[in-house]
Amino acid sequence: MPMVEKMQVIGGTRLEGVVSVSGGKNTAVAIIPAALLCDEPCTIDNLPDIDDVHALAEILRHLGAGVVYEQGVMRIDPRGVGGHAVPFHLAQRMRASSYLIGALLGRVGRAEVPFPGGCVIGARPIDQHIKGMRALGATVDSRGDTVRARADALKGSDVFLDMVTVGGTINIMLAAARAVGNTVIYNAAKEPHIVDVANFLNSMGAHVKGAGTDVIRIRGVQRLWGCSYTVIPDQIETGTLMIAAAATHGDVTVTGCIPTHMDSLAAKLLEMGARIDAGDDAIRVRSYGAHRAINIKTQVYPGFPTDLQQPMTALLCTAKGSSMVTENIFENRFRHLSELQRMGANVRVMDRTAIIDGVEGLFGASVYITDLRAGAALVIGALMAEGVTEIANTHYIERGYEHLERKLCELGANIRRVQVEESSPLTELVRG
Ligand code: EPU
Repeated sequence: MPMVEKMQVIGGTRLEGVVSVSGGKNTAVAIIPAALLCDEPCTIDNLPDIDDVHALAEILRHLGAGVVYEQGVMRIDPRGVGGHAVPFHLAQRMRASSYLIGALLGRVGRAEVPFPGGCVIGARPIDQHIKGMRALGATVDSRGDTVRARADALKGSDVFLDMVTVGGTINIMLAAARAVGNTVIYNAAKEPHIVDVANFLNSMGAHVKGAGTDVIRIRGVQRLWGCSYTVIPDQIETGTLMIAAAATHGDVTVTGCIPTHMDSLAAKLLEMGARIDAGDDAIRVRSYGAHRAINIKTQVYPGFPTDLQQPMTALLCTAKGSSMVTENIFENRFRHLSELQRMGANVRVMDRTAIIDGVEGLFGASVYITDLRAGAALVIGALMAEGVTEIANTHYIERGYEHLERKLCELGANIRRVQVEESSPLTELVRG
């Protein structure tokens, strides 16, 4: 009988101690393709050891770059890059493969990138990325399953985004960095990783101004030179650890983070009754007693991040009263709720709003991860639950969290890997 690996969590322990946060996933997956724009080698530090980073390293090697990745440091030598086509099987491994369109257009004037994969949390079109590339003078054919873009010379232009898009903003910044003339992105996203990517480009000699506001101005330059750059800490990992601390009524200090990136989450945890103390690069979360129900609406930065909506719903399952969670960014980001229901949660979903009526407690069950942040939500639910939870499909967690399991165990969680038979009643590989 084939065996599958699951994560087994014995719930009910209080998390306590100090944990350090890793480098940002969503920054890392943009900065690695951005390094292709450079004419010299770059060294990027504080990269998380996650599957998305390894997949990008493989793509860059396939395109002809020299890539060495050891202990969080990646040295990228893009001088040998001649390829422009990203293989389907690698593009499908992650969402961020779309950044190869802007980066390759800027580098070799051509890009052939299969439509990106990544978490199934909504339709996730890339029409705004394509609109931006066309505005800069590229011809883009997006029929079928691959985007084919070409430009003899990109020319700076004004791009007004129809909606605030993180990926669209970054992709246009990449293409514009070496375009001829000025580009202005209006209605740009303001997330911390937009600022980090702009800082990285500027460290290579680009002229990007206004990142972190909704208007970004880029003056194209002819060449970019090598640099050493340190990726910012992961906002979403920080938030996940903060929520886990509150969920287990623990006392956890998350170090190496940027507390101001966490303001929207901290405000919600305070509203629920947790205690938060923020220092220069650390946040302590303490929680005693019952939590109060609250309402959340996901928004673009600096609003409450969609990526923390799923972990937060786990915490709300046992809050006293009725919570309303509205997901405004992605139309299909509630798939984890049916798994939390298996653990005893009382949840109804109406269109884009989930109504969570707090229950006394969750109990262990066999559950299935549907996407990266659903994985975090189920781990948090399992830590809160009485008894044993078995979590299947953990590869999603490895896509985006560096050593989450180890970090939680160091704080006192009881988590181990188990091999179970595929036909075991505890294992259902496909759920509708
Ligand atoms: N959208 C369009 N057209 C576009 C681009 C986006 O309609 O051309 C829509 C999307 O469908 C969505 C909304 O605009 O409804 C926002 O999408 P956005 O482009 O901002 O998201 P993304 O770039 O695909 C990144 C992160 C996500 C994170 C979102 C929102 C990366 C690799 N991914 O995705 O991270 O949820 O921004 O902050 O940076 C995660 O880490 O779990 C994750 C999904």
